[in-house]
Amino acid sequence: MRFDIITVLPSLLESPFAHSILQRAQKKGLAEIHVHNLRDYAFNKHKSVDDYPYGGGSGMVMQIEPFALCIEKLKSERDYDDIIYMTPDGVTLNQGIANDLSTKQNIIILCGHYKGIDQRIRDVFVTKEISIGDYVLSGGELPAAIVVDAVIRLIPGVLSDETSALSDSFQDGLLDAPIYTRPAEWRGLRVPDILLSGNEAKINEWRDEQQLLRTKERRPDLLND
Ligand code: ADE
Repeated sequence: MRFDIITVLPSLLESPFAHSILQRAQKKGLAEIHVHNLRDYAFNKHKSVDDYPYGGGSGMVMQIEPFALCIEKLKSERDYDDIIYMTPDGVTLNQGIANDLSTKQNIIILCGHYKGIDQRIRDVFVTKEISIGDYVLSGGELPAAIVVDAVIRLIPGVLSDETSALSDSFQDGLLDAPIYTRPAEWRGLRVPDILLSGNEAKINEWRDEQQLLRTKERRPDLLND
């Protein structure tokens, strides 16, 4: 699977993909992440990519042409399944969206800045608009990194234990059960006896109950969907 991320701040995306699972996925050849500097596609000598909004108002708007040139160059090289724009007014990211994206081959992600991008980029090129939550960040780079992380870990073969993505919170629509490791007792706090019992059937039953209990307490909305 291949991601092409278009941004005015490529250096912001140098680190998030260079560690742990995402780094391993790239080394194994299961994922490719390419970051493109939008300013390389600026058409004026100052390399600016934004301008004042028509109709007035505060903030600058990212112009069409640099995005169009970069997207069209990428599209001339391969087909893309989706062109995603990261924006607080998009559909809120959830596990279902991540699952769906993990089945795709090639995805472009556009990162906005300032007031956002000219509406015509959205109308002409963008196929999905995704938010990471109801709050506003300075740009789309961190949201893009979150989408890439959530998706790449779902690609078969990326996690060494294939079942571990399946047992993530949300994957079955519920939150995870509490988890523990050694020591069995710490400052008088004991791990639930059932987990030390070795009885796999009973442990699974306990985990199912705990998942339901946690979800009821913390995210009852997930049970109503
Ligand atoms: N850009 C700025 N804030 C954002 C958010 N909450 N989600 C996605 N992109 C954004």
